[in-house]
Amino acid sequence: MFKKHPQQSVSLSDATLIERGGRRDCYRHPQNPDWCIKVSQSQFKKDKQAIREIKYYSLYKRLGIPHTHLAKFHGVIKTPKGPGLLFDLVTDDDGNVSKTLAHYLKKLPLKDFDVLLNELHDYLLNHTIYLSDLAADNIVVSVKNQKKKLVIVDGAVNSDMIKICDYSEYLRRKKIQRKWSRFVDSINIA
Ligand SMILES: Nc1ncnc2c1ncn2[C@@H]1O[C@H](COP(=O)(O)OP(=O)(O)O)[C@@H](O)[C@H]1O
Ligand SMILES: [Mg+2]
Repeated sequence: MFKKHPQQSVSLSDATLIERGGRRDCYRHPQNPDWCIKVSQSQFKKDKQAIREIKYYSLYKRLGIPHTHLAKFHGVIKTPKGPGLLFDLVTDDDGNVSKTLAHYLKKLPLKDFDVLLNELHDYLLNHTIYLSDLAADNIVVSVKNQKKKLVIVDGAVNSDMIKICDYSEYLRRKKIQRKWSRFVDSINIA
C-alpha cells in the first residue's frame, strides 16, 4: 500500500532531533526535509506500533481521506534504533517546524482557537478518524499564509484491545465524541 522507499534504511547520526515525545523521538529526515522519522524510545512494542500505524493509515489512504488535518504517513524504514515511521513534517511559512497546540495554549487564550477546534472536530466526525490519544501535544498548529490550521501528528489509530470500533461507524462516532469532550476538558483546565 505504501511505496517502497528507494533508500530502505537511514542513519540517524546526521538527522536533527525535533522533539522527544513520551514514547518516540522525532527526527527531521536527513535527505528529505519535508518528512520526519519517528523512532520508539522503548526496546519493546516497536513493531507493534509500526504495524498499527501501517494498518490505519492504509485504511485512510484506501478511503481517500484528505490529509487536511492529519499528517500524511509514508511508510516505514529501517534505522539503527529500530523501525522508523515516516510522516510529513508539518512546518510553518518560515520553514520552522510547527509548534504544538499545547505550546500555543501556554501564551494564548483558548477562545483564540475556537474556530480551529470546530474545524478539527468536523473533520474528525466527517471522516470518522480513529482516535487513541487526542491531546494538545499530539496536535500542531500549522501557520501558512497567515492562516492557522490544526493538524494531528499522533494518536489517529485504534489502540483498543478489543477493536469493536473497526466494525462500527456508529461506535467510532461515539468514541470521537467521548475523546473530544475529554480533550476539551483537558485544554480548558490547562
Ligand atoms: N509530523 C510532525 N510535524 C511536526 N512536528 C511533529 C510531527 N510529529 C511529531 N511532532 C513533534 O514531535 C513530538 C513527539 O511526537 P509524537 O509522535 O507525539 O511522539 P510520542 O509518540 O512520543 O507522543 C510532538 O509532540 C510534536 O511536537
Ligand atoms: Mg504524542
